[in-house]
Amino acid sequence: MKEKINVAVIGCGNIGNSAHIPAYIASPRAQIKYFCDIIPEKADACVKKYGCGKAVYDYREILDDPELDAVSVCTHNDMHSVIAIDFMKHGKDVLCEKPAARILSEALEMEKVSYETGRLLSIGVCNRYSNAVNAIKKLIDDGVLGEIYHVYASFRAYRSIPGLGGDFTNKAVSGGGALIDWGVHYLDLVEYVCGDPAPLTVSGEAFCKLGVDMPNYVYTHMWSEDTKDLNGVYDVDDSVTGLIRTSGPVITFNGAWAENINEEGTFIDFIGDKGGVRHDYLGGFTLYTVRDGMLCTTKPSFPENNMHRDEVLDFVESVCRGERNRNDIKNAILTSKIMQAVYDSTEQHREIVLTD
Ligand SMILES: NC(=O)c1ccc[n+]([C@@H]2O[C@H](COP(=O)([O-])OP(=O)(O)OC[C@H]3O[C@@H](n4cnc5c(N)ncnc54)[C@H](O)[C@@H]3O)[C@@H](O)[C@H]2O)c1
Repeated sequence: MKEKINVAVIGCGNIGNSAHIPAYIASPRAQIKYFCDIIPEKADACVKKYGCGKAVYDYREILDDPELDAVSVCTHNDMHSVIAIDFMKHGKDVLCEKPAARILSEALEMEKVSYETGRLLSIGVCNRYSNAVNAIKKLIDDGVLGEIYHVYASFRAYRSIPGLGGDFTNKAVSGGGALIDWGVHYLDLVEYVCGDPAPLTVSGEAFCKLGVDMPNYVYTHMWSEDTKDLNGVYDVDDSVTGLIRTSGPVITFNGAWAENINEEGTFIDFIGDKGGVRHDYLGGFTLYTVRDGMLCTTKPSFPENNMHRDEVLDFVESVCRGERNRNDIKNAILTSKIMQAVYDSTEQHREIVLTD
């Protein structure tokens, strides 16, 4: 059991600054030794802002530091597997942002290296640390909803394509669009709450429609607008739908960064034979049950938590203990399998049967 660990944050952008760095700083058991970014000013700015650590601009410089215990990989998706594997092969534990990787083969290689080297590999599927999500999981584990036979996930927006023409919409960098960027959270949340059931068959269609004609894409605001490049690439899904049979419930979903229906819908319905739950994504939930011949609707209140922070703090604890945690690649890989099968199903226009 280690009392304290040295960590490095690789990629000092949005999620590094908003989640990983503050959580490490808040942890009495972690010390940030390095801030690494290929844009030197970003790494330098972190050293200045947080008053700790050393700036490095190439992660390979710190691979051999024997004092470094663990790293957070907070770069874009194309570098997740490369950087995570390099650090694991050099004896470091890794917390890698979601999605695990761009494609399933990369994620499988990450899993293989993690188990071969014995290094921890947690994926940033942070909803596993949400108080609301864990309350729903407990209701299901306690049998309050009976058999969960269908889960429906909606992650739909009206006009929310990020950084048009930049990294987000370039499949070679991101691996996909709405499914891989947003759907990964919803599908992983469903998997977690339902006890990580094995996906059996997947039928899906991912559509690349509204941003294709980049100059004529109409929107009111755009997140990650600073990365927009109208001369760039747009070849990812801006909406997606699918049906997954699992060893547990059937999962269906509709997701969209953009579609021609102005009705945002970000929720997950867990439908059981004794009761149901609608989880307002990133919020609370409503429980529908029948008691003493009455239909009951309950909206529980409980303390909200910062799931990103709790995820990083638990990673620190698991590194100190040398034990895998709930975000282990072995669990997160299920979502990579599903997403890959949705894209394969789209390409082949047929159902994909998963064999293991
Ligand atoms: N868990 C969540 O809810 C959540 C939220 C946002 C983003 N993310 C994920 O976090 C990752 C980063 O997203 P972001 O919004 O922070 O992007 P960002 O562009 O703000 O930050 C990425 C940083 O990585 C740096 N970088 C790129 N290649 C590098 C390399 N080889 N070595 C070191 N630094 C490198 C970039 O210069 C940039 O500063 C993505 O995979 C994204 O999916 C997760």
